[in-house]
Amino acid sequence: MFYNTNENQHGLAHDPFKAIVSPRPIGWIGSKGSDGSLNLSPYSFFNAIADSPKLVVFASGGRKDSVRNCEETGEFSVNMVGHAQIDAMNQSSAAYEYGVNEFEKSDLTAGQCELIDAPRVIGAYAVLECKVTDITKPKIIGGEHPAALLVTGQVVGIHINEDVITNGRLDSRKTQTVSRLGYMDYAVVNDTFELMRPKV
Ligand SMILES: Cc1cc2nc3c(=O)[nH]c(=O)nc-3n(C[C@H](O)[C@H](O)[C@H](O)COP(=O)(O)O)c2cc1C
Repeated sequence: MFYNTNENQHGLAHDPFKAIVSPRPIGWIGSKGSDGSLNLSPYSFFNAIADSPKLVVFASGGRKDSVRNCEETGEFSVNMVGHAQIDAMNQSSAAYEYGVNEFEKSDLTAGQCELIDAPRVIGAYAVLECKVTDITKPKIIGGEHPAALLVTGQVVGIHINEDVITNGRLDSRKTQTVSRLGYMDYAVVNDTFELMRPKV
């Protein structure tokens, strides 16, 4: 099948786009407002886009609280979601009013970051401490996206729980990383293989 996204006539029961671009890592964004309030929310329009220096991005469908906090204080943490945090991650996605502490609502403990003044999830197997470098409205053909805001952050520090390291490598059988598929589906990595790059 083929369909033109302008008309969105895929003929399926649900829009397949997010199921096609999947699995997506979940950036569980911890941030602080200028009033001191703490915030935690999952974003699956999230990824790493550069190394040395390391950059990550997340995209918000509108100026949600995480974006507001990133504008106000210029810092955020990315907390990686393991199997044990699925319910807490989901709970933290509820549309609470600005200022409501999702760490408390999700029965999580907020920890201090080392290099930034934003909260992090105690128990996350890895946390990226990020400083905002850019908040932009992505362009579309002939204009700007009506809703999306793209937050870029430079990773200035990284926490890793040493329990998930095997022989000097992050062990995905131990991290049990949760990723987002389409619809209401999620996945946990349970099968990996190695592939060497070709030499020319
Ligand atoms: C797994 C998951 C992934 C999500 N990804 C996004 C996303 O990429 N962009 C977005 O705008 N909302 C996303 N949401 C919804 C937000 O988490 C939700 O709107 C939340 O209330 C935003 O919180 P905030 O206003 O405190 O930032 C996602 C929700 C879940 C459960």
